[in-house]
Amino acid sequence: MAVLELYTFPHKILSKKCDEVECVNDELRKFLDDMLETMYSDSGVGLAAPQVGVSKRIVVIDDKVTDEGVAGPHPLYMVNPVIVEKSEDMILFNEGCLSVPGQSAEVERHQWVKVRYLDYFGKEQELLAEDYLAVIIQHETDHLDGILYIDRISRLKRNMIIKKLDKSK
Ligand code: NI
Repeated sequence: MAVLELYTFPHKILSKKCDEVECVNDELRKFLDDMLETMYSDSGVGLAAPQVGVSKRIVVIDDKVTDEGVAGPHPLYMVNPVIVEKSEDMILFNEGCLSVPGQSAEVERHQWVKVRYLDYFGKEQELLAEDYLAVIIQHETDHLDGILYIDRISRLKRNMIIKKLDKSK
């Protein structure tokens, strides 16, 4: 396994809609392993392929990662994930992103989502997730459509975060 290079805002791959994966094979599984290792090495709870420079509809998630590191591992591998149902109820959650380092903001998300995807072995799965896991799934699937969490907050808040990012560079 290998830790991959992380792409950060405002790299243009992060605002591009990703392509579907055609086949889950050994080559893809190796990439899934590398994505997971990259995510764990940065104590992230989710990572989408464009964040490591690959414009494909792939995410890895582990909602059991704590600030101290990995409590699991309990990884979810999602290839071509599609949110097929979502709650009307919304929740506010403080979100960060490995591609927007050191920043966070409250984002409004659906309280639960039902997601359909192909797993590590290319088998179709359906998962009903709520609260924290639902938030991560929405955040990561947004990445596949070129949407960052800072695109879902007020322009004022967004500009503040971008200014802080510039300063820290
Ligand atoms: Ni993110």
